[in-house]
Amino acid sequence: MATPLILDCDPGHDDALAILLAVADPAVSLRAVTTVAGNQTVDKCTLNARRVLSLAGVTSVPVARGADRPLVRPLRIADDVHGGTGLDGPTFTGSPSVPESELPAQELLADVLRTPATVVATGALTNIARLITESPEAAANITEIVWMGGSTDRGNIAPLAEANAYVDPEAADLVVRSGIPFTMCGLNVTHRALVTPDVLERLARIGTPLAGICAEWMTFFASTYTRLFGFEFPPLHDPVAVARVIDPAIVACVDANLVIETAGQWTAGATVVDLDGYTGRSPNARIAVALDREAFWNRLLTAISVC
Ligand code: RIB
Ligand code: CA
Repeated sequence: MATPLILDCDPGHDDALAILLAVADPAVSLRAVTTVAGNQTVDKCTLNARRVLSLAGVTSVPVARGADRPLVRPLRIADDVHGGTGLDGPTFTGSPSVPESELPAQELLADVLRTPATVVATGALTNIARLITESPEAAANITEIVWMGGSTDRGNIAPLAEANAYVDPEAADLVVRSGIPFTMCGLNVTHRALVTPDVLERLARIGTPLAGICAEWMTFFASTYTRLFGFEFPPLHDPVAVARVIDPAIVACVDANLVIETAGQWTAGATVVDLDGYTGRSPNARIAVALDREAFWNRLLTAISVC
């Protein structure tokens, strides 16, 4: 049976492809898309989520607007990476056909979570932290949270912090400490999901208008990753978390203790993963450590081809 899934995201180029994977892969059944401020303002992320679903022709998945800022810190957007729209590259005119839900994200999450579902989060964990605090009975129906965020190594927005952790470390801390089964797919693994020329060739061979738009998104994403980070090819972070739910064999994990730094003067948002058992603290999370790159791209490109 397909795993019921909620995708909480901040589209974002890699979030956009995570949505397509969640929409089209038969191993999961996407019940809702909720948005959070991160890569761009929540207004723009919500518009982009609606745009992606409209391009995929999906009208049955509600899109609800979530938090417009982190729990306690000011919002830091990533327009340097994702552009002024949050999804720069191809130009769109007019409104997407998929509407925004009348329910705010918190209400839609509580509604969908009247029955159990897995949550994939590909942005800051603000919405999920608020759900745990404000609707504990709904949060109790979260089977697992699979998060693209953090790193076992270094960061990408601060020396020791990955962007989704850095934007709202207090939320990440609350979620990790909630006791809900938690899987972290960090940069140490997502930096292996590189959009290499062979991937772009396979996208071109799909030949649909949507595949062409994905290629334009990837071309923009590649340009910012080269300019800002010196990457030859851009890493497609967010679909890795969806792929972990679709087939756990694609993203190998180990159990380890994870804590989120919130108080560090220079290290807020650091994801402190005790892979070596130094601390004596019990494992409280699954930590992604390896990616089956071939299986990942097969799954994602197949999803795009059937959208
Ligand atoms: O650090 C990578 C993450 O930050 C991805 O989720 C990307 O979309 C941005 O939100
Ligand atoms: Ca994201």
